[in-house]
Amino acid sequence: MDDSSKAVAKSMKWSNLDTESDDLDSGLDQEIPATPQQPDAKQESTDEKASDRWFHEQRGGKRVPKRLEIPNEVLVTTGGPLRMTGNITLIDEDGHVSHANYLTLCRCGASKNKPLCDDKHLDIEFFDSGSVQRLSEWMPLNRPQNLTVSCVKDGPLKYRGYLRVYNKKGQECITMSGSLCRCGKSAKKPFCDGAFGCSGA
Ligand code: FES
Repeated sequence: MDDSSKAVAKSMKWSNLDTESDDLDSGLDQEIPATPQQPDAKQESTDEKASDRWFHEQRGGKRVPKRLEIPNEVLVTTGGPLRMTGNITLIDEDGHVSHANYLTLCRCGASKNKPLCDDKHLDIEFFDSGSVQRLSEWMPLNRPQNLTVSCVKDGPLKYRGYLRVYNKKGQECITMSGSLCRCGKSAKKPFCDGAFGCSGA
């Protein structure tokens, strides 16, 4: 995402949208129902750090987060986090839903602020080359898509929706669903392999 897109993006998290979770998993272009509740002042300040959407639009008779013209992509960094951009709906381990256009997600397993990275990978000297060796299952798309990322308790980041997984060495894989390792132990990083008792490959 370029700087201008990031500048447009600003924080807003919807509280109390737990009931969305099932719908969100049901498909790529699903609508996100409901008008968000007004957060109280304390929540708002916290929420501003959590995600980054300003705008909504009317789609299918519903008021939904506006899709921005940014690709759904995740950069697998060498020895560091997953840098994800796109029209992201994030469902945390407790089922809380937020929307974001840029997230830095822990993949070493050591963050105290999961699912976000807090630079603990430096303390533990997490090493991974950032290779992406899986073949693409989908052709590149240009139009903006929705991407839903669910944090599985003691498990991976499950995603549903168009996602280009890539690194700076020119490797990439485009898929419509999958699981990204966030414990740092998968033999198939950046994807989850279900090993080490992980519950969601
Ligand atoms: S990748 Fe940064 S804290 Fe885990």
